[in-house]
This record gives sequence, C-alpha cells and structure tokens, in this order.
Amino acid sequence: MSGLITSHYKMLFVMSRFGIPLGFGDKTIEEVCSENDIDVATFLVIVEILLEAANYRHIIDNQDISVQEVVSYLKSSHDYFLNYRLPNIRENLYNIVNQDKDEISNELAKAIIYYFDEYVAEVKKHMEYENMMVFPYIESLIDNRKEESYSIDVFARQHNHVEERLTEFKNIIIKYYPAKSTNEIHSVLFDIFVCEEDLFSHISVEDKLLVPIVQKLENKVKVK
Ligand SMILES: [Fe+2]
Ligand SMILES: [Fe+2]
Repeated sequence: MSGLITSHYKMLFVMSRFGIPLGFGDKTIEEVCSENDIDVATFLVIVEILLEAANYRHIIDNQDISVQEVVSYLKSSHDYFLNYRLPNIRENLYNIVNQDKDEISNELAKAIIYYFDEYVAEVKKHMEYENMMVFPYIESLIDNRKEESYSIDVFARQHNHVEERLTEFKNIIIKYYPAKSTNEIHSVLFDIFVCEEDLFSHISVEDKLLVPIVQKLENKVKVK
C-alpha cells in the first residue's frame, strides 16, 4: 500500500474517502483493505480508473464490485469537495483579493469572487442531484426494490462535466490578475488545477464504474 501512495500521491484522496488511516507500515493493499472492511476489488477498480489504466474494464467484467461501497466513496467525495476543498479555496482567494485591493480594480475583485461562487453553485447543484436522487435510487435497488420511474441511463445521459466551467474562471485570473503577490495567487491557482483534475476523476468514476455496475444491478432486480 505504501508503494502505491508514494508512486501516486493522488491515491491519498482515495484513502481518505474510504476512511483508511495512514500508518499501515509494510502491509499489502489486501491486508489494509481487509482490516478496514473494504472490498479489495472495489478499492482496486477505483484506483485503476483514477490512474487511467485500461484494466478497470476487466475488473468490472470479472469481479463482484460492491455497489454500496462505491456509493459511500462517492458520497464522501461530495462531502470533501463541498464542505472542505471548495470553501478552503474560496477563503484563500478572498484573502488574496483583499490583500491586493490597492493593486487590482474593485470590478476585477468582485468578478473573481463572483465567478468562483457561480462555479461552486454549479458543482453543488450537480452533487446535490446525485445525493438526493441518484444515490437513494441506487440504495433502493440494493434493497431489492426497483422504481419504474427512474433508471441509471437517465442519469448517464444528462451527467455533465462541471469542471469545464472552471476554465473560464482560471482564464480571468491568468490573463487579467495584475498584482505583485505572485506566490499567493499562484498557490491558489495550483490548488484550483488540482481540484479540477480531482473533479474530473470523480466524474470518471461515476461514468466508468457507477453506471455499468448499477445497470448490472437493475437487470437483477425486478420492478415491483
Ligand atoms: Fe458526484
Ligand atoms: Fe457527477
């Protein structure tokens, strides 16, 4: 497990979303997963998707993935983005804009915060739809109940990529931010780039993993 994290530091995100603490010494991935009651195939398929390895399809086709654990993983990712990562970036951005208020125009300062808030509102709407509509639907399937009015294909068809909107926002900063406090603004931009990539990976897990495993589950559960 430690080899996985040191070669791919972004796997730290996966660990925290599965609730796996650090301090696992030389234990293997299988040992760490079993100690934390995590299905190893589910853990590995998410790692494969995040590493953009083609092998994830083979795992989905040949192993039983825990739908409940994938849903828990996605819920905890939503919580991370909405309640930790995005508010943290906003706070840093707000402080920098305030600190540079003598060097940047009031309009630019307002536009930066406005575009960021608009972006966050869009991410929130996207994730709340999944929390309130998609995950409860999947949980009822896990309980062997199928609702006729909804299916995972409806979700798959309209699932949009929220991170695209962030490009607009980054361009405003990159092209028009004139202040001299470059270390601070670069650091917040760096956080935004990492968050954008992380959101892209999150959405890939939904498209590449959640949709096919829920389709399989739908085929097993009859409409009542
Ligand atoms: Fe999501
Ligand atoms: Fe999504």
